[in-house]
Amino acid sequence: MKIIGICGSPREESNTRFYLKQVLSELKLKGAETELILLKDLDIKGCKGCYGCVEAKRCVIEDDFSKVFQKMMEADGILFGSPVYHSSITSELKALLDRSGFSGRWYSNEMKEEKASYQWKGTAFSGKVVAPVTVARRAGQNFAFAQILLWATCNDCIVAGSTYWNVGVAGKGGSVNADEDQEGIGIMKHLANNMANIIKCLK
Ligand SMILES: Cc1cc2nc3c(=O)[nH]c(=O)nc-3n(C[C@H](O)[C@H](O)[C@H](O)COP(=O)(O)O)c2cc1C
Repeated sequence: MKIIGICGSPREESNTRFYLKQVLSELKLKGAETELILLKDLDIKGCKGCYGCVEAKRCVIEDDFSKVFQKMMEADGILFGSPVYHSSITSELKALLDRSGFSGRWYSNEMKEEKASYQWKGTAFSGKVVAPVTVARRAGQNFAFAQILLWATCNDCIVAGSTYWNVGVAGKGGSVNADEDQEGIGIMKHLANNMANIIKCLK
């Protein structure tokens, strides 16, 4: 069972990273192979809308994207974490979701002649267990959380939840204080249980 966490915070010390680590360390105790990927350390540009992936069946922009895409394809489960920025996920995570979602579709499908209706065979992420983790100081969680859910449910993934939405409340004045959010920590540990159980059932 391989599960990766992808952190969309641009910050060195990060609340989002803390919550993702809670989920991943619990999964590790359950025997999962885990990895945390920090988008802040990578160069992943936004989608250019060139449609190069339709022919190439991979994103044609040359940067760090393909390394992360490969890890996403190899994983059984993917956690997408982001701080809430103006009620949204960060631009770092959005760039990854746009490019992986679009090129991942052409990875297993072909553009037929213009008149043919789209009959999707699946995507590069079909059947993967996905969970959002969003972190806000105060407001906008639902929108950011929904952005990740909408990506997952458009990409043939199975969504894992917890005893509450998988959100953290932290970061007042730029602080890194997620360790004070006992409820959030509990939610993350329960999310790990659900992810592990779903993946075991699927296998
Ligand atoms: C540009 C920017 C926009 C933000 N927008 C929101 C927001 O809409 N709602 C909110 O509650 N917090 C907002 N915050 C606060 C962060 O979501 C919060 O501090 C979070 O804990 C940061 O996570 P990180 O430590 O993982 O980067 C914003 C912070 C920044 C820097």
